[in-house]
Amino acid sequence: MKPIKVGLLGLGTVGTGVVRIVEGHQEDLQSQVGSPIMIEKVLVQNKAKARSISIDPDKLTEDPWEIIRHPEIDVIVEVMGGIPHTKEYILEALSLGKHVVTANKDLMAMHGPEILAKAQENRCDVLYEASVAGGIPILRTLVEGFSSDRITKIMGIVNGTTNYILTKMSQEGATYGDVLKEAQELGYAEADPTSDVEGLDAARKMTILATLGFRSNVALEDVSVKGISSVSKEDILYAKRLGYELKLLGIAERQDDLVSISVQPTMVKKTHPIASVGGVFNAVYVYGEAVGETMFYGAGAGELPTATSIVADLVAVVKNLKLGVNGKQSSLAYKETKLKTDDQISSKYFLLLHVADRAGVLARITQSFAEYEVSLESVLQQPNPNNPDAEIIIITHDASKAAVQKVLQTFESLDVVYKVKSVYRVEG
Ligand code: NAP
Ligand code: HSE
Repeated sequence: MKPIKVGLLGLGTVGTGVVRIVEGHQEDLQSQVGSPIMIEKVLVQNKAKARSISIDPDKLTEDPWEIIRHPEIDVIVEVMGGIPHTKEYILEALSLGKHVVTANKDLMAMHGPEILAKAQENRCDVLYEASVAGGIPILRTLVEGFSSDRITKIMGIVNGTTNYILTKMSQEGATYGDVLKEAQELGYAEADPTSDVEGLDAARKMTILATLGFRSNVALEDVSVKGISSVSKEDILYAKRLGYELKLLGIAERQDDLVSISVQPTMVKKTHPIASVGGVFNAVYVYGEAVGETMFYGAGAGELPTATSIVADLVAVVKNLKLGVNGKQSSLAYKETKLKTDDQISSKYFLLLHVADRAGVLARITQSFAEYEVSLESVLQQPNPNNPDAEIIIITHDASKAAVQKVLQTFESLDVVYKVKSVYRVEG
């Protein structure tokens, strides 16, 4: 049995996990694909660096082209991260007929269509299960498991760092700054945590999920993004008091041919299954017209969970090789993406207002909502010993994003509204 030879680009957190699983599960993998799978060469930045696994030093190289152009390597596994180099290496590998497995969400969210087109041109596979929600096999589920259904909503907690921060703030009353530092020390956050906390990492993952789920090419620019850096302890406290959890949710919705995709801190009713997803865990809720509600839960990052997705992709490539069906990308998006306008995007909203504490104020505020036909589900005035002004919490019924924005604009000229403290979308 001729072994399948793999070139591994990167031996950090994920690359180390890939080596461990390929070596540790070799017998099982071989019985599934009918050939041994061998890591032939490994690209690193620094060959002299100490590693947490023992690896034959002759396999390590600092020259990417030694791997990309290696005549015996069948599959390239890219787990080094970043964009310019990885794009160049992957395109060259594909043009040489090598299959590619990658965990690189940044690359696939921004250059996925170009890479997949190149793969098809060269009859190669490009699989990227590990790029979204680490160990949860959600991409394969969207493409294969839901191939018979029409997905209308995908809602995800797809960034472990922010979920860890929000969970700690909710459960322990910790401040945002303290927990972010902790998440960095624990290795959950990206090297530059801005992409985690400002929602960009989640937006990249939602781009990939929406493209596959709705079968239309969604671009990163199609995603409206807000992160968690302005979430306060007070917001979380109010959410809890009202029976909600505050979560950074990616939400992709489709109605007929129109879609909307966003990432934003969202109040989720505690009875919704996604509200109970805590810590670094990820979850993806999928609603299909035929199947109804489904939810997928698990580790969204980390060495071994992420590596299981990479090696499962490797197994899929090798099975395709044996069947001679590589490069048949059934998941290629075929529909044009038409985005909803703000007056077509509808949801409930939570608003926290600091207002003057005198007669008639509530009437003036509710008049603004009435003017734009935003109906209110509940209005609550809470005493706050630290704030001499009145604090009013409003939860709306379903309203268009455009109408709520217009109401907020009217508050700018209302002298009784001192501050719009927070506005969140509400789910569940
Ligand atoms: P990492 O720990 O930083 O490892 C990166 C590896 O790539 C290191 O071995 C490094 O070499 C090598 N490398 C980086 N730049 C290089 C260059 N220019 N030339 C040669 N080698 C280079 O990264 P990671 O956490 O494993 O993440 C890898 C990828 O998986 C990223 O795209 C990430 O977004 C994605 N991902 C990660 C996770 C996770 O839990 N970590 C989960 C899902 C997806 P040295 O070892 O010599 O420094
Ligand atoms: N920084 C990412 C997260 C790693 O926190 O989810 C996994 O993609």
